[in-house]
Amino acid sequence: MDYKKREMALQNGDQLSSDLFHSQAHIWNHIFSFINSMSLKCAVQLQIPDIIHHHGAPMLLSELVEALSVNKERSDFVHRLMRILVHSGFFLKQTISTTEGDEEEEKEVYLLAPASRLLLKGESLSIRPFLLAMLDPILMDPWQHMTNWFQNNDDISPFQTTHGRSFWDFAGQEPKLNQFFNEAMASDARLVTDAILKHCRGAFEGLNSIVDVGGGTGTVAQAIAKAFPRLDCISFDLPHVVNGMEGSNNLRYVGGDMFEAIPKADAVFVKWILHDWSDEECRKILKRCKEAIPSKGNGGKLIIIDMVVKNHEVDSAESLQTQLFFDMLMMTLATGKERTQEDWIKLLVDVGFSDCKFSPILGLRSLIEAYP
Ligand SMILES: C[S@@+](CC[C@H](N)C(=O)[O-])C[C@H]1O[C@@H](n2cnc3c(N)ncnc32)[C@H](O)[C@@H]1O
Repeated sequence: MDYKKREMALQNGDQLSSDLFHSQAHIWNHIFSFINSMSLKCAVQLQIPDIIHHHGAPMLLSELVEALSVNKERSDFVHRLMRILVHSGFFLKQTISTTEGDEEEEKEVYLLAPASRLLLKGESLSIRPFLLAMLDPILMDPWQHMTNWFQNNDDISPFQTTHGRSFWDFAGQEPKLNQFFNEAMASDARLVTDAILKHCRGAFEGLNSIVDVGGGTGTVAQAIAKAFPRLDCISFDLPHVVNGMEGSNNLRYVGGDMFEAIPKADAVFVKWILHDWSDEECRKILKRCKEAIPSKGNGGKLIIIDMVVKNHEVDSAESLQTQLFFDMLMMTLATGKERTQEDWIKLLVDVGFSDCKFSPILGLRSLIEAYP
């Protein structure tokens, strides 16, 4: 039915009932989307992926319940939790035949799907800390205050409407937030660094020094320092993040404020920094980055890791939705946004970078190299 006919049908109150129920189901799906994330969080907290992994073979529900630290009366409920997580692609379910005495019986067993391997506790590229951080009440509560924030004039973000201060101030004052956020960032940094060192080592070749701005607890800088022993590396972040961190031969930690000054180096590396900030704030940070590196023709370079909205890799509606989720996340927790290639070029040109190259090699994120 075309749009005009549908509108007329709606006005006449005789919308087709299949249409009506389709719309209702669409709304229900959106109302209850949070059940996907909450069910996954529960499975991770109960360590279901780890238990199935360590079992080493497809696992019966009874074996899973036995291994879980749950009330044994809850076995039917575990089945229901597993059913939605099988549906959403985190576990696989198979049916096997078992024999007890003369009786042959069909039973369901569970296996890990590829995505839940990234949720294992001991897996080096696990994103479990990121999941637990993003779904912590401190970061979830601001979503309840988004409308309030739209209607007020004072707060920089729904996070501030909720907690009375910016995300970065709160992280500096609340050790629990500082710790789980830094762990979350470190888990992402491990995964991204692994890919960068496999696929774009060239970006670091020929450099004598590099500073990772907003480098958190130094996961990226540690890996780069190890991979390039002759490269002097600095991991630079707010004092409460780097206090007490110990460097190594070619790595040191420096505390400071990137809006004030950035330590000098051949290259500045900024991963998941600029998307935290508005265009105006990014221009200030980028000016400091440009001051920190050698001028045009003298080898200075800026390396950005961030999303490029609708880049070549974003080939499905699901991928675009993920980028839009991140855009809303940046609006809700901080003052930032996700940017298209045009947005990035404009920002870089505004502060005097003359050339840049986009490499969409990190899934939904890209490596962007910019030159003064
Ligand atoms: C989203 S995290 C990214 C961490 C790391 N680059 C990564 O991707 O794993 C942003 C980082 O910026 C740091 N940061 C925030 N404001 C800063 C400032 N004014 N100066 C230096 N670092 C800052 C935070 O402490 C945090 O470690």
